Amino acid sequence: YRRDSLSKPEVYVSRVIPETGLNILEEKCDVTVNEEDKQLSKSELIDNLKGKDGALVMLSDEIDRELIEACPDLKAVSNLAVGYNNIDVQAAKEAGIIATNVPGVLTEATAELTWALLMAVARRVVEADKFLRAGKFKSWGPKLLMGNDIYGKKLGIIGFGDIGQAVARKAAGFNMEIFYNKRNRLSIPAEKRLGVEYKKLPQLLAESDYITVNAPLNSDTYHLIGTEELQIMKETAYIINTGRGPIIDEKALVKALRENVIAGAGLDVFENEPDVEPGLLELDNVVLTPHIGSASKEARYELAEKAASDLVAALTGGEVENPVT
Ligand code: DGY
Repeated sequence: YRRDSLSKPEVYVSRVIPETGLNILEEKCDVTVNEEDKQLSKSELIDNLKGKDGALVMLSDEIDRELIEACPDLKAVSNLAVGYNNIDVQAAKEAGIIATNVPGVLTEATAELTWALLMAVARRVVEADKFLRAGKFKSWGPKLLMGNDIYGKKLGIIGFGDIGQAVARKAAGFNMEIFYNKRNRLSIPAEKRLGVEYKKLPQLLAESDYITVNAPLNSDTYHLIGTEELQIMKETAYIINTGRGPIIDEKALVKALRENVIAGAGLDVFENEPDVEPGLLELDNVVLTPHIGSASKEARYELAEKAASDLVAALTGGEVENPVT
């Protein structure tokens, strides 16, 4: 649908977002929503953004140079995500576009899903559920579906920004040794406060029982975990990824899981979403979720509100809270 008003900035919203966010936009802008709520192809996105002043887009919308050049009226792009690897920041800057992301509001939700996957894979929760539903639960068994303890083990966190740190805080009840790896090491007092130890990546991989990937995707983190890195991990170790799929070489991971180079994986993100490496679907030692890290109601409502407010601010000369350009 479309609301007409001559003086308001024109905005396109590429998926149906929570109403609280939409209301914020509609107060100040002339809003068109992709009511079909389907992922748009590149050319459909361009067609819809042509002539618009602003766009509220998803991490699955590629805002690259081609799109930016095809939409010269575009002044602001608000990404409904904390990660913004889908936006060519340099091209946006050159075009004078204000691009924004939404840090903060999804930190705890994403850290919670990281733990949900970690615990699910360690204790074979999904396998056990399938087993029971298949009518295979005939009696309590002393060796039935044994998994691994989490308590007292070593947790290695790759990427130690807001989400990585929230993952570390949530380990409190598990009496774990916590390692982290990050481009810029934290200060010693910060490490002490969080109870974490810095490790170079090979050491972190070699020593951890559970490894979580909580890094953003960029040229430094693309395929950070490949065949060689998986080989360094313990045979009994698990890897959880709630960051971005391409940080792990998915083909190498399938091979490592198949050959029991590592014990298992919990994945919320994939290299070529929404496609998933078919080999993953055949394995029992993986738990897979469809990029739902931030999908708590609380987080998604706030995400929509913050993304909308910043888009309005960018288009009306207000103070933009989270610019990335
Ligand atoms: C993000 O925000 O980057 C997540 O992947 C989706 O909420």
